[in-house]
Amino acid sequence: MIDIVVARITHLVFAAIWAGSVFYVALVVLPLARDGVFNSTKPLETVSGKLTTISRVSAVVLFLTGGHLAGRLYTIGGEGQGLFTSINGQLVILMVALWLALAGLVEIGAKRFESGLNGKKLREPARDALPVFRIAAVVAVGLLVVGGLITSGALVQFL
Ligand code: HEM
Repeated sequence: MIDIVVARITHLVFAAIWAGSVFYVALVVLPLARDGVFNSTKPLETVSGKLTTISRVSAVVLFLTGGHLAGRLYTIGGEGQGLFTSINGQLVILMVALWLALAGLVEIGAKRFESGLNGKKLREPARDALPVFRIAAVVAVGLLVVGGLITSGALVQFL
């Protein structure tokens, strides 16, 4: 039982950190960089590097805690709430797909951004990376919505 509590809290904390940092970079940092507010590539390299680290660590923690929760709360084929057959189970599968998308989008966006910065450009790499990060931000918020749907049981009640 305690393992479920620890896994839940850890899962939630890293979900918030990951989604929040991607959202902030897409909404605040990259638009400022695109508009030429920064006059050196250094702070932006740090932003991108730290975001990549936050993203990778969060992806691993969420996979491990989420995998543990899925193993403890869902069943495959047996008695109880089926991972593939129940509505919440299917939402968990959707969560995994979105998890993969978010991790991939942050890697692609950061690579685009950093390779431009390495060429000593400032505004252009931000403009190129912005669409990728905007999609990533939508996916991140979508993940929190899916989490909310699971915990509230909204779809189970109304479908
Ligand atoms: C491989 C990746 C992941 C797996 C296997 C996974 C799995 C799960 C499972 C099994 C639950 C509990 C469902 C239940 O209570 O019935 C859950 C809850 C949740 N997940 Fe994930 N998840 C993953 C990634 C993510 C990501 C990337 C985010 C957000 C950035 C996220 C956000 C949430 C939220 C907000 C909840 C609800 C919190 C709670 O009930 O404690 N998950 N996840």
